[in-house]
This record gives sequence, structure tokens and C-alpha cells, in this order.
Amino acid sequence: MAAITMNHIVKRYGDGFPAVNDVSLDIADGEFMILVGPSGCGKSTLLRMIVGLEDITSGDMLIGGQRVNEKSPRERNLSMVFQNYALYPHLSVFENIAFPLRLAGTSDAEVKKRVQDAADVLELREHLERKPANLSGGQRQRVAMGRAIVRQADAFLFDEPLSNLDAKLRGQMRTEIARLQRRLGVTTVYVTHDQTEAMTLGDRVAVLRKGVLQQVASPRELYEQPVNLFVAGFIGSPPMNFLPATVQGAALRTPFGDLHLDDRRAKAVAGHDLVIVGLRPGHFEDASLVEEDKRRHGSVFRAMVDVTEWLGDQQYAYIPFEAPAEITAQLRDLSRELDSDQMRTQAIVEIDAMSRLREGREAEFWVDTRKAHVFDPKTGTNLTRDAEAGARMTEEVAQERAEQLTETREGRVTAG
Ligand SMILES: Nc1ncnc2c1ncn2[C@@H]1O[C@H](COP(=O)(O)OP(=O)(O)OP(=O)(O)O)[C@@H](O)[C@H]1O
Ligand SMILES: [Mg+2]
Repeated sequence: MAAITMNHIVKRYGDGFPAVNDVSLDIADGEFMILVGPSGCGKSTLLRMIVGLEDITSGDMLIGGQRVNEKSPRERNLSMVFQNYALYPHLSVFENIAFPLRLAGTSDAEVKKRVQDAADVLELREHLERKPANLSGGQRQRVAMGRAIVRQADAFLFDEPLSNLDAKLRGQMRTEIARLQRRLGVTTVYVTHDQTEAMTLGDRVAVLRKGVLQQVASPRELYEQPVNLFVAGFIGSPPMNFLPATVQGAALRTPFGDLHLDDRRAKAVAGHDLVIVGLRPGHFEDASLVEEDKRRHGSVFRAMVDVTEWLGDQQYAYIPFEAPAEITAQLRDLSRELDSDQMRTQAIVEIDAMSRLREGREAEFWVDTRKAHVFDPKTGTNLTRDAEAGARMTEEVAQERAEQLTETREGRVTAG
């Protein structure tokens, strides 16, 4: 078990392309870190540099305080699970899991003990004598995981290990991985582009864009206090709505009427003219369902409802709006980069499932302005981010992890 530290890591491939560009990241001992970002942003490259499958162009990679840039994968003692894990079809589940131990010449007794321990954790006990071909997708995935954990590596590295599974199995495996990681307390780096995995699995999430680290924070901090337009648009589903706005003193003039800002935010946007305001779908409501004392915390506006989607316990309404060309162009680029097929000049708002809003009609909406973020359209910077509030959220997670880790390790000492 070990901390992983990256200092100014750069990776240039043969063609000079910087796939990873000056990434500095501290992963604490026992921490579960998620790497997330759109396709091609450098997630796998970064992971492969940690394991030693890819040369590091410049910067320092430290594992457990030791510089490992020149060390072979074997010397780094890390365990990696790939998206396309391969099991040996002619070997039993037991021997598949035991494989790395056999390579290392571990004694039979020790192999048996370790494989059985891993099989217990992964609930594979009954399947040890079976062949991979006779297992379900989820069981096979667990065998691959078993092979990774028997090694007692200093860290686990996962590159989209669940992307080949169907949605239901993915959900199950997600909870299993989370439980396993807590139980073993092993430092883990997990690459994904799945929103749900990113938000639920990790202690912290590192968001990459074109090889550059954007923000490293707890899921909650990323969601509530994103540093820029990119992180704000990438984290959250359905994504944050971005509306053009002009600053008028302490108010923002938007296509959905004037939004009033509190003093802190008003001060933060002072001096700006055209801005982008970000509002999450969940911050809206059908105004007729909002109680009077809650209404005061937001603004009410009328808009045409284009489409509604009723999902039983949730309902979404799509509201088109007009935006000036300079903002439309920026939002279109962002949308393309985020692989989103969403038309950015319509807002998606989440309203109560009881709401009787009708398609093609005007309706009155309420929006919670306390949660609005305001972005500089030129740089994408979040002008209204509350860095202190954000830091507190991430600090809380770190403390929880540290406590849990102490418990886990003390437990192990007692048990072993
Ligand atoms: N062997 C290589 N030679 C040249 N360029 C490469 C090589 N491998 C990756 N790249 C480039 O480096 C960038 C990052 O690739 P990487 O595989 O790390 O992305 P990723 O974030 O894992 O994407 P995905 O989500 O699609 O797996 C991409 O632009 C890719 O084209
Ligand atoms: Mg990849």
C-alpha cells in the first residue's frame, strides 16, 4: 500500500502530441481516485505511466515516496485491470486467479490461502473449479479482479473495467468494487467516462481535458463548486444548463428573466458585461408547486415548453431560448467536446412528477438563484465559485477515508 505522487508529468508521443500535459496529482495512501474526461483526454496514458507500460517524457512519478520513472512494471508492484481482461480458457477459476502467484513461484500452501481469501471477498468460492467459459459476465469480471487482488500489490489500477458489461451488471460490480476497495484499503486509481461511476466510487475525482488537469475534488465539490465551464458541463446528468446573460448591477438579465444575485456573487461578476450563467436542471421547478417562503430564494419566469418527458418519479421539460452568436458558438464547441448531442440553446429543467405542464404551452417556472454559477465566456472560469466551501466538502471526504482506513488496518492486524 502506497501513496502515488505525480509531479509535472508530461507524455509526448512520437508525433510530439502532448497526450498528458503537466499533470501534478497527489493520491493518498488508501485513497480511491477516479480519472475522468472525454475520449482522448489522456486517462489511459496517465494510468499506463503509473504502472510503467508507457515511458514518461518528463516529470517525476513517485510511488510510496520512491521515484519510479525508470523502474519496470514488475518492480513497481502494482496491479492493473484492463477493459479487455483476458482469462485463460483452459485454466480453472482457481488457476486463473492464482496465475500471478504461480509466476512469482509462490508456495502451494500460500497460493491456496490467498486464492481462497480473494474468492471469499469476491464470492467466487463455489466457482473455483469451473472454467471461465461457464461463468456469467459478472463472474468473469470478478475472476479478473481476483487475479489483481491476490498479488497484494501496493495499488490497484483500473482502466474502464466495467465498460463491457450490461447496465445491470455494471451497477452490481460498481457496488462490489466500492466495497472491495474499502475493505482492502488499497490505493486505487480508476479510469472511467461513466458519470455514475465517477460520482459514486471515488473519494476524489480528477477531471482531465486534452491532457490537462482541470480540477481534483470530491464528487460533491465538483458538482457544487466547479472551477470552470468544462467541469460544470461534464459533471452532472442531465448536464448543467448554460444561459447567456448580461450583468446589470446585482442582477443578471437572461432569456428567462432577471436573476438576482447575493452580494458575494454580485461582487464577483462586477465589471463583466456578457457572461454565461449555469443552472442545474434540479434547481428549477414548476412555479405553481413552489411554496411562498421558498419562492423568495429564486426568480419566477414564463417560458414556452417545447417537450416534456415523464419518467414516473421524475419529469423533465425542455425550454428553448435565444442566445447571441458569440455565446452559441462557445457552447456548441463545449457541447461537441463533451460528446453531448444536446442542443445547447434549450434548457432541460427537472420538475415535479405531479406537474401538469403541457407541451407547446407557456408555463411559469421558478429557479433557485442561490445555486447559480456565473462563468466568464472568454476563459470559461467560474467567477462565482466559493473555493472555501468547496475545500470543506473535499476535506470532509478525506477525513472520513482516513478514519475508515485506520479501522480497516487495525482490524486486519487484530484478525491476522
Ligand atoms: N501510441 C500512441 N501514439 C500516438 N498517440 C497516441 C498513442 N496512444 C494514445 N495517443 C493519443 O494520446 C491521446 C490520449 O489517449 P488516451 O488513450 O490516453 O485517451 P483516453 O482518455 O484513455 O481515451 P478513451 O476514453 O477513448 O480511452 C489521444 O489523443 C490519443 O490519440
Ligand atoms: Mg482509455
